[in-house]
Amino acid sequence: MSKYITTPIYYVNGEAHIGHAYTTFIADTKTRYEQLKGEDTYFLTGTDEHGQKIEESAQKSGKPTAQFADEISATFKNLWDEFGICYDKFIRTTDEDHKIGVQKAFETMYAKGDIYKDFYEGHYCVSCETFFPETQLIDGEFCPDCGRSTSIVKEESYFFRLSKYEDKLLAHYANNPDFILPRSRANEVINFVKGGLRDLSVTRTSFTWGVKMPASLQDDKHVMYVWLDALLNYITALGYGKDDANMNYWPASVQFVGKDILRFHAIYWPAFLMSLDLPLPQHIGAHGWWTRDGEKMSKSKGNVIAPKEVADAYGAENLRYFMLREVPFGQDGDFSQRAFIDRINSELSNDLGNLLNRIIGMSGKYSDFEIDSVDVAKYHTKELDAMHETLDSLDAYMENLQTHRYLEELWRLFAIGNKAIEEHAPWVKMKEGKKDEALATVALVANILAKASIMLHPVMPKITNTIADALGFEINNESYKELVLGKKLLKIFNIKVVPPLFPRIEEPLMAEAPAAHPNEPEVAKKEVKESPKAVSNASEDNLIEIGQFFETSLKIGTIVEAEEVPKSKKLLKLQVDVGGESPRQVVAGIREFYAPQDLVGTQVCVVANLKPAKLMGMLSEGMLLASKDEEGLCLIRPEKPKKAGTPIG
Ligand code: MSP
Repeated sequence: MSKYITTPIYYVNGEAHIGHAYTTFIADTKTRYEQLKGEDTYFLTGTDEHGQKIEESAQKSGKPTAQFADEISATFKNLWDEFGICYDKFIRTTDEDHKIGVQKAFETMYAKGDIYKDFYEGHYCVSCETFFPETQLIDGEFCPDCGRSTSIVKEESYFFRLSKYEDKLLAHYANNPDFILPRSRANEVINFVKGGLRDLSVTRTSFTWGVKMPASLQDDKHVMYVWLDALLNYITALGYGKDDANMNYWPASVQFVGKDILRFHAIYWPAFLMSLDLPLPQHIGAHGWWTRDGEKMSKSKGNVIAPKEVADAYGAENLRYFMLREVPFGQDGDFSQRAFIDRINSELSNDLGNLLNRIIGMSGKYSDFEIDSVDVAKYHTKELDAMHETLDSLDAYMENLQTHRYLEELWRLFAIGNKAIEEHAPWVKMKEGKKDEALATVALVANILAKASIMLHPVMPKITNTIADALGFEINNESYKELVLGKKLLKIFNIKVVPPLFPRIEEPLMAEAPAAHPNEPEVAKKEVKESPKAVSNASEDNLIEIGQFFETSLKIGTIVEAEEVPKSKKLLKLQVDVGGESPRQVVAGIREFYAPQDLVGTQVCVVANLKPAKLMGMLSEGMLLASKDEEGLCLIRPEKPKKAGTPIG
């Protein structure tokens, strides 16, 4: 079966940042992984160029809208080219073929009775290109998504009968529990649909920078709503509405999106497809957001990280490795140079780089750069078994898009290799005249490196090719089948000397992010370190006003995920549903008192308005209430189950 993989198409109102790079890296990695397995892949990315937001950004820049869009779109394309992203097509919503496909889809939905004309009056957020019901506005005026002021817009509009698809959508989620990955994100979508779907306004008359109506409708006043236009890119790119040239790739295998646009992809998009009688994508993979040093990235704070800047300083593939290793797919992640440097030094340089250098060095010294695997099985069955067991476990992680677990497991191979060298000390065996044994260990590790570099290839394509070259083999579907699936050893390695691939990094190589509040990280850290603790330290002689108490937002939270934090005896990393769009990550010092599996599904009391803080490089966005005495610690919990997000107080 072929595999069609997509990224969202990026708005051209600003240049790429590492959040965009992250989505593109995962999609690229997944595509390369499928290619390694011999699948026929099609990988789509591109830019989303229509709508009022782009029109306004162009006006601000003083350039004609089309020229503005051309220029920013080119910066995305050039960046992906520089990063070696293996896309098959870079679509632009301003492409003529795309517009033809969108018009065709509109006509089809209209002919089916799924689109009708009416009037729309509502609160409209220009920045989000979305109407919001009054009940959702903050203080009756501000956008619930971006906080900007909304304005009342009344216009004639065509509507898509979204309401008609409510039951069908719910049935689809129920019958396809892996439609939304990670599964923990499905509930927010299901609840939204269960809350009732209103028909969706899919045209605008308030601006002109968009796809025009199909000629058959003879209604030039309207242009398409950007989300209808944008979502359809996933099929127009395959020739939908024109020649269907690549429609054999549809349905998509996985469509990657950020959590902020999950609703569009898991509700509107499937409904459009149902209306067009097309099958739904297999998976929508929703990832979390990246912050910088614990802070949300924004242009006004001046802390946006340009992927090119990081790649120039640290290497593009090191960045790919870091981003995919650092964050569990679906959760938010934090970019800090310290965490990045630590991973480069300990995982890439020490675990992998040094192992390769040792093998190159020993093969040169003991066997003139030729390694023969003839005796590996005789001396190393234990290691071979462990190696193959680990290799067998990897596919499931990639299937579930758990790149951090995939890489974590993959790194076990280097641990096996390093341990074998320490235990079997080939240099001692050489001195004792046991050359066969010494060379068997060198060959074992060379095989480990070969197999590991095949599996690391989708994440670090160029560097693993260099490793393969140093070992004297090629990474491709053949070697994957033989060495990974077939569990064979490479008979002979002809070793080439290569310079160290991952030089250690001592100091940050980029300027630090401007500190928004100089003392804040330390204060915040302290708060989290000491957690859990009672919310208020007030003793009777330190009384507070009731208003001070209510400055703390306390909420009922449901723990939806819990895991141990590697290398920490105290911390657990939790995902806690406090009624928001997505669960919050809370890092809490309760590991000595609770096993993660016992916490999932239980309810807690959460301090919900603490400033986010970082703990061991992880973002913590809240604190749990707990009480501790000499007998231990207990979490404070509601007496009866309550809806997540219910205020306490
Ligand atoms: N144009 C729409 C997508 C249309 S798809 C049919 C859009 N564009 S965007 O440029 O604003 O965002 C593109 C992607 O980048 C989204 O998936 C979004 O989640 C992601 N990110 C934007 N900022 C991000 C972070 N700080 N961190 C991680 N990803 C983030 O939405």
